[in-house]
Amino acid sequence: MKKILDMITGKMEKAFADAGYDASFGKVTVSNRPDLCQYQCNGAMAAAKQYRCAPIVVAKAVVEKLDGDDFSMCEAVMPGFINLKLSDSFLASYLEAMRTEADFGVEKCGQGKTIVVDYGGANVAKPLHIGHLRPAIIGEALKRICAFMGYHAIGDVHLGDWGLQMGLIIAELQERQPELPYFDPDFTGEYPKESPFTLTELEEIYPTASAKKTDPVFAEKAHTATYELQQGRRGYRAIWDHIMGVSLPDLRRIYDALDVHFEKWLGESDADPYIPAMIEDLKSRGLAVLSEGAWVIPVAEEADKKEVPPMILVKSDGSSIYATTDLATMVQRMQDWNPDKMLYITDKRQNLHFEQVFRAAKKSGIVKAETELEHVGHGTMNGKDGKPFKTREGGVLRLEQLVKDMTDFVRAKVVENKIVAEDEVEETTAKIALAALKYGDLSNQPTKDYNFDLERFAAFEGNTGPYILYTIVRIKSILAKYGPWEQLSIQAAANDYARDLMLAITKLSPTLEAALRTSSPNLICAYIYELSGAVNKFYHETRILGEADEGLKAGYIALIGLAKNILETCIGLLGFSAPEKM
Ligand code: ARG
Repeated sequence: MKKILDMITGKMEKAFADAGYDASFGKVTVSNRPDLCQYQCNGAMAAAKQYRCAPIVVAKAVVEKLDGDDFSMCEAVMPGFINLKLSDSFLASYLEAMRTEADFGVEKCGQGKTIVVDYGGANVAKPLHIGHLRPAIIGEALKRICAFMGYHAIGDVHLGDWGLQMGLIIAELQERQPELPYFDPDFTGEYPKESPFTLTELEEIYPTASAKKTDPVFAEKAHTATYELQQGRRGYRAIWDHIMGVSLPDLRRIYDALDVHFEKWLGESDADPYIPAMIEDLKSRGLAVLSEGAWVIPVAEEADKKEVPPMILVKSDGSSIYATTDLATMVQRMQDWNPDKMLYITDKRQNLHFEQVFRAAKKSGIVKAETELEHVGHGTMNGKDGKPFKTREGGVLRLEQLVKDMTDFVRAKVVENKIVAEDEVEETTAKIALAALKYGDLSNQPTKDYNFDLERFAAFEGNTGPYILYTIVRIKSILAKYGPWEQLSIQAAANDYARDLMLAITKLSPTLEAALRTSSPNLICAYIYELSGAVNKFYHETRILGEADEGLKAGYIALIGLAKNILETCIGLLGFSAPEKM
């Protein structure tokens, strides 16, 4: 179904043509003076230049030709603007089409296309910390938006499971328990099924090992272990399996609690089998060159304003690095899924890394020219004071702790205000807390930094997730009191508040399209905030259930029912859902 602005523009273009001017002047935009009109067209100003006459003359001639049934007002005003208000019948028929068509008639621009969304980026053996919140939340939202717009969307967590942290753990474990069979190069038997460490132990082993990186002897051991693991040393692969077995269920549990779900749980290690052939190929084609003992792919371009250093493919010690695995992962993705687009969500401090990898991928043809590569480098989540988020002890806050803090805060409110029966407290709390957390994040442009403010994010009023949920719950309760409503049709606006609500609803399609095009879930937040405001204004100014005229009442109910369905769909795209009561 066409977007409403495109429909109005179409009508305007026809009017320009009918009046004898070029149709291309008929572009209509949303009015920047909503007190005067809903939409406006400034084309007569430009047309006047071309046709060498006064703009008002053009505007008047065009207005003459516009179909009066579609507009309740179309005025040519000095010096040559055309101000428009839609007729209530046209607006109602547009909303009725949105109500009855699948997915509100939103055009599926991703139909037939495949996109890989690479987000989350958890590192095995390290607990998720607050730095993992944004890539998880933003990535999940972008993936859901893509899927809604018709894409076959494949979310891949791309685990960090192949780098130095593995070697560090192996080296540390060897210092602690050298007698384990994993370290005996002559051992040929079967390794124990039981892991030599628990999750809690692993979470202690890694930071301890990491702190020892400054010790050159230990660092050397860890590098060697990493290299040997990557070369397939049997005992180290067995330890690696244990690390995965212990760490993965915990990662899944935390992502599940955030309602973040990956289609694929692949990692850097899964790219490993593709690396040797890829390197050979890049060398043989002269794309990779030797530089100070390392193999690199030069990716600088003439137009570069800042220097873009070559992408390191193989370090001088023979090991592959982060960029190598990212490039090899592209080989796998092209081979297995042949995507039209790959979208990466990570901290913006990785901007240069992706610039290098993307260039290497295109230059080498690993990714075909038509496949779009995009990196969303997100900003930092800071504390309430705008400073980097730290625990009281000065450490990095665990993601789980952040979720718990928010949940505890919301639970206290839910209990205090006796919002639901005792046995529903946990479920309702979880939904509100997730909305607070996700909306608090997603309402910001991804690339910008923002300050985490628990009280503000969890407030039931203002531009917050809970406020949106509250609006949905309010509509649900009215609908429940009314009875079956799903079949009721949209009617012409009976008052100004209904009309404003209807106009807000029509912005769904352009909002989703822009959110997809610019990878900006924040546009959806702004839309549902505006929509919720219009719903609440309408609710406060209109007797809905108390309306004596049954026909009128049915129209009101249909309208808020449509608003509710759209709000629920939108929060679903953002990755949270509404409780029954609030
Ligand atoms: N594990 C990485 C990190 O912690 C993020 C992975 C992002 N995805 C990618 N394809 N590089 O920084």
